[in-house]
Amino acid sequence: MKLFRGFLTLLITLICTLQWSSLAFNSKKSYIVYLGGHNNGLEASKIKESHFEFLHSIVGSKVSVDEAMIYSYDKHINGFSAILDEDAAAKLADHPDVVSVFPNKGLKLHTTHSWDFLKLESNGVIDSSSLWRKARFGTNIIIANLDTGVWPESQSFSDDGYGPIPSKWKGGCENQTSVACNNKLIGAKYFNKGYMALYGALSTSMNNARDHEGHGSHTLSTAGGNFVSGVSINGIGIGTAKGGSPRARVASYKVCWPQTITGGECTEADILKGFDVAIEDGVDVLSVSLGAPPSDYFQDAIAIASFHAIAKGITVVFSAGNDGPAPGTVTNVAPWMITVGASTIDREFQAFVELRSGPRLKGLSLSKALPADRLYPLLNAADAKAADASMTNAMLCKEGSLDPNKVYGKILVCLRGGNGRVEKGKVALLAGASGMILCNDKSSGNEIIADPHFLPATHITYADGLRLYAYLSSTNDPLGYITHPAPVVNIKPAPSMAAFSSRGPNIITPGILKPDITAPGVNIVAAFTQDSKSDIPYNIESGTSMSCPHVSGVVGLLKNVHPDWSPAAIKSALMTTANSRDNEGEPMMDASKSEANPFSRGAGDICPNRAVDPGLVYDLSVNDYLDFLCASGYNQTLLQKFSGYPYECPESNYNAILDLNYPSITVHKLSGTVNVTRKLKNVDKPGIYLVRVRSPVGISVDVEPKVLNFQKQGEVKKFQLTVKADGTKVIKGYVFGELIWTDGKHQVKSPIVVSVA
Ligand SMILES: *[C@@H]1O[C@H](CO)[C@@H](O)[C@H](O)[C@H]1NC(C)=O
Ligand SMILES: *[C@@H]1O[C@H](CO)[C@@H](O)[C@H](O)[C@H]1NC(C)=O
Ligand SMILES: *[C@@H]1O[C@H](CO)[C@@H](O)[C@H](O)[C@H]1NC(C)=O
Repeated sequence: MKLFRGFLTLLITLICTLQWSSLAFNSKKSYIVYLGGHNNGLEASKIKESHFEFLHSIVGSKVSVDEAMIYSYDKHINGFSAILDEDAAAKLADHPDVVSVFPNKGLKLHTTHSWDFLKLESNGVIDSSSLWRKARFGTNIIIANLDTGVWPESQSFSDDGYGPIPSKWKGGCENQTSVACNNKLIGAKYFNKGYMALYGALSTSMNNARDHEGHGSHTLSTAGGNFVSGVSINGIGIGTAKGGSPRARVASYKVCWPQTITGGECTEADILKGFDVAIEDGVDVLSVSLGAPPSDYFQDAIAIASFHAIAKGITVVFSAGNDGPAPGTVTNVAPWMITVGASTIDREFQAFVELRSGPRLKGLSLSKALPADRLYPLLNAADAKAADASMTNAMLCKEGSLDPNKVYGKILVCLRGGNGRVEKGKVALLAGASGMILCNDKSSGNEIIADPHFLPATHITYADGLRLYAYLSSTNDPLGYITHPAPVVNIKPAPSMAAFSSRGPNIITPGILKPDITAPGVNIVAAFTQDSKSDIPYNIESGTSMSCPHVSGVVGLLKNVHPDWSPAAIKSALMTTANSRDNEGEPMMDASKSEANPFSRGAGDICPNRAVDPGLVYDLSVNDYLDFLCASGYNQTLLQKFSGYPYECPESNYNAILDLNYPSITVHKLSGTVNVTRKLKNVDKPGIYLVRVRSPVGISVDVEPKVLNFQKQGEVKKFQLTVKADGTKVIKGYVFGELIWTDGKHQVKSPIVVSVA
């Protein structure tokens, strides 16, 4: 969401960055020095001291240590961030106590009817089978996000009817004057030293957890916002806004700041601190809608921090990224994370283009109505080109490319691409347009988005755009109208995958399927910011940023019903009960209208009412993840530091990637015959489960045993898959199948992904 970030801020950031790097720190950069887990039982102040002493031993002078240190991570994550020259960084990296040293990188944010669609309610009625009732709407679960802060005055965070804060909570609001905590919003803290070290100084007026952007309030209220009725945007009724765990307590850890010219807005140094503090404060669920291209697990602050969180039983949910539909774009790929793609829901905000003659074109919009009920002159923006502008820029409605004399009073037709969708509307409005029709370019195809534009506007598909451009060139006096947007539900087919949702395969560990799951992430309504720049209490946004907190909210519900489930058991329940079919009973589609495969949808769309009762789960312990890391090539010495306790790698002949007890099955580069083992744990009454396999094309998958007879709750049973090419077909690329265990009542489903060497 780039709309409300001013250009001025970017310019200031640019200037500050230049000064900062050229004057203040010649050839110095900010680094993370990661020392692993804590195993020495030192109290926090001693740990901090030890970090200063350690850095002192490397850089020499005491004064320079105080200047260099950014943060000491002294609670659950062991390490520090500091501004260092390359020599010092190299020395630290060679030190035996150090796990890894890596530059502090910048990350980007992955920019309500949805709960009805997920069957937690039905036409506003919440029946007894709803997980909302079973889970008491998430009462007393603490859900936090790491994001752009929070708008504390939003009704989504009001504490009407909330009792005292759960006694285990150690957090709070850092500054009650800037962000006031209540019994609903129970924490708000901010971290910006890492941002300033990388991008330059922020004004001191920014030193608070207030959300000037909207993204953080949107994601936090999607996960845990109150029921707020009568929400509308630009006069269009939306209904009741609410989060996945509407009665949860929420906390905000602000780690993201104004977007910089490189697009970075959050940094690893701040995120590590946010995690360290949130774990200590006692959160139950962490929702993180940001990321960077994935890197080695020990050069990746998010992978490191989330490992320490799950080791404390906290479930950590991440967005998959918005770099789809290209393959290999999925980020946040460690197996201990839940990685969430974005899909559509069955509601649209439709605003039609009506032409004096010709077809009626369906568009999507959340804009205001046109002032008068009459036909308006239409104008191709290319024909409104300013004298000194290029035709391409004019067609795209870029800033400074339009001639106001030509645009005034017309509905301007702009092409998608090149600049932001909403920015185009702003440019059109400033040039005097009465309205805007945004046409998809070829690469965006059918993907249209309901944006709250600055002027009456709608957004149409590529095919309809071609029809519109044809009409414009067919007449000297083109006239048209944009109808006022109206919500329409029961849209079919839904869900389908959003084109922007990042896709697998996982480029760090191809043997683990990512994303894990998908959730609503297109046209999601949630709380926003009433900062002076954007006085919108509720706003509609799209992105995996929006789908991630849907899962976080549902995790809150699952934790209330099953407080004893591990983060891996929760993930398994979500994945094995997910829906890979749409509301017409057909396999879920991609935006391109081809069948969505596990690289886009993971296991499928979350199904909360089923996830609470999965029958069986694929559970995992922290040691299983360490075994996985051994198999990935990290040695025992390093992993002992990482975990903070004595640990031994398994025997070398054990394949801990293939056999990681993950709820999906990936055989990467199959050659000959491969055996895969899994263990299922019964979390329900005794039951007899039979196996069913939908084998990938050209692959035979044999399962032994074919029946699992669970005689009591908690019992664990092992099975083995034997996977080999069946010789019927030459296999290229990836092929997909499904494994299902069923007792008649439950279906425990896992995607199967195979590539051949
Ligand atoms: C707390 O916030 C207020 C209002 O933004 C500000 O004036 C004050 O300086 C802040 N206090 C601290 C200790 O940062
Ligand atoms: C373990 O790995 C680290 C980091 O790659 C390396 O520095 C160290 O020498 C290795 N130790 C052993 C015992 O192989
Ligand atoms: C797979 O398992 C079967 C049965 O347990 C065993 O006979 C076979 O040797 C195994 N194959 C491989 C490649 O490990």
